[in-house]
Amino acid sequence: MNIHTHRRIAELVDENYAYASVLYYFGIKFYDYDEKTLEQVCHEQGLDVHDVIQDLEAVYEQDEDQIVGLSALPIDVIIAYLKHTHFQFIKERLPYLSKLIHHLPTHQHPEIVEDLQFVFPLFVEELIHHIYEEEDDFFSYVMGLQMASKDGKPTSELYLSMEKRSIQDFAIHHDMDDDEMEGIRQITNGYATDGIDSLHLRVVYAELQKFERDLCVHASVENEILFPKALMLEKQVQKIMRAKVRLN
Ligand SMILES: [Fe+2]
Ligand SMILES: [Fe+2]
Repeated sequence: MNIHTHRRIAELVDENYAYASVLYYFGIKFYDYDEKTLEQVCHEQGLDVHDVIQDLEAVYEQDEDQIVGLSALPIDVIIAYLKHTHFQFIKERLPYLSKLIHHLPTHQHPEIVEDLQFVFPLFVEELIHHIYEEEDDFFSYVMGLQMASKDGKPTSELYLSMEKRSIQDFAIHHDMDDDEMEGIRQITNGYATDGIDSLHLRVVYAELQKFERDLCVHASVENEILFPKALMLEKQVQKIMRAKVRLN
């Protein structure tokens, strides 16, 4: 893949919507410069065009299959991985999407744009709430279990937590939060771009669809890898506790 410096920004983004996000991280909002060439924009922004091209070309090399092999890892590594994804969602992906949606021009497909601009911030708020709750309650409970199973000494704090909650409760609660993007899928007609003549909106659809895919992968790591492991861990710690009670 060779990206030429004299190509217009709109042409590049139209060829691969993911280029818009690479440009964004260099501070280039594609919709502000779409008629200029890559070289012109880099010059204006004081960027080295070769650095930018290198990152644009790396889009093709991204590893999509990152969860393969995750199930073999210890539970604290899986939690660290999930937290890292949360961080990326909150610090990078959602702000990028919010900005894209906020700047959508309203003269094309005004109804869709208006609905998206209304619903997307609500979706973000809900997702961030889900993430914080997950980290503060569920992940810290699991880390407490892991510590107890390692040193065989459950703390009194953990005793209390285990009386109040269980992994099964978390799992049920987590299931109810599924499919947070249903409303967005409806507004965008399942991200179908036929008849959508705005490049900006097509980029938004592609990014939303990609985000939904990544969110699905993330949830399946939680549901299919983390929850079963956490359940086993909880059983182990319950056993340790029962043995201690018998000893006393
Ligand atoms: Fe999560
Ligand atoms: Fe989750």
